[in-house]
Amino acid sequence: MTQVIESGAYQRDDGLWVFPREEFIRERFRVKPGNHVVFGGPSQNGKTSLAFDLLEVVATEECPAYIAVSKPRDPVTQKRGMELNFRFVNDWPPPGDVKQFFRRDKPRGFIVWPEFGDLDTDVIRSREITRRLIEDRYAAGVKNKKGILVLDDTYVKAKVLKLDREMTTIHAMAGAMGLGAWTFVQKPTGAGETPIMAYGACEWAFLFSDPDKRSRQRYDEIGGLDPNYVSAKVMTLEKYQCLALQRTGRRMCIVDKS
Ligand SMILES: Nc1ncnc2c1ncn2[C@@H]1O[C@H](COP(=O)(O)OP(=O)(O)OP(=O)(O)O)[C@@H](O)[C@H]1O
Ligand SMILES: [Mg+2]
Repeated sequence: MTQVIESGAYQRDDGLWVFPREEFIRERFRVKPGNHVVFGGPSQNGKTSLAFDLLEVVATEECPAYIAVSKPRDPVTQKRGMELNFRFVNDWPPPGDVKQFFRRDKPRGFIVWPEFGDLDTDVIRSREITRRLIEDRYAAGVKNKKGILVLDDTYVKAKVLKLDREMTTIHAMAGAMGLGAWTFVQKPTGAGETPIMAYGACEWAFLFSDPDKRSRQRYDEIGGLDPNYVSAKVMTLEKYQCLALQRTGRRMCIVDKS
């Protein structure tokens, strides 16, 4: 029988707990600087929305979020970035005196959003700006600066912007130096090495319902969990719900849509 507790959390018949989003974030989502996080699921399932809900709590002046946007329009990023008072910039390093820029009021997050609109130059410009952001944060990490590098739409970054090497380097090295990478996997096949590294290196994975068997096979890379079990559970999720897996302690629960 379904068990419900006061906060609205409930246990499903299969034993998995479903937590209201706010409660999960407040009580259960713990990350240390340098922890990597992966969001897996097809387009329009709520990956970016969940990432902003989490950033609202974990991005701080000492450990800011750097959100690299790679598409011309993303209403969720626009709206949530404004709500969280993150700073929108279209180049990196931000134009003007860099030291001055960082010295002024320190935001908890930067939305790095290159300009789009010219088919001939969009890819090159977007690639260069995103590459500079990754390299700059990597160099800052070597000097012990903390941060969260949010690589939204990882497929575009890996395949269209050809930044697979840069992103896999971050996954391999950055955790040890306090730079966490948040990776978004719409479809892991044909997206370079980054999704494999991301699943293999993550402290947290948030998996949304995915009808593609090949995508689900990638859960194998997470390690320490039975991929068939994970795959079967993902298939039972409602829209905007996700399965949350934490490597430390091998914990698993469902984060509700609200
Ligand atoms: N928990 C939720 N409840 C209701 N609506 C939601 C929820 N999460 C996301 N949405 C809505 O679903 C749409 C897609 O959300 P979002 O952009 O976060 O998805 P996504 O997985 O990042 O998509 P893409 O892969 O295309 O970037 C948006 O209109 C958003 O407002
Ligand atoms: Mg998105």
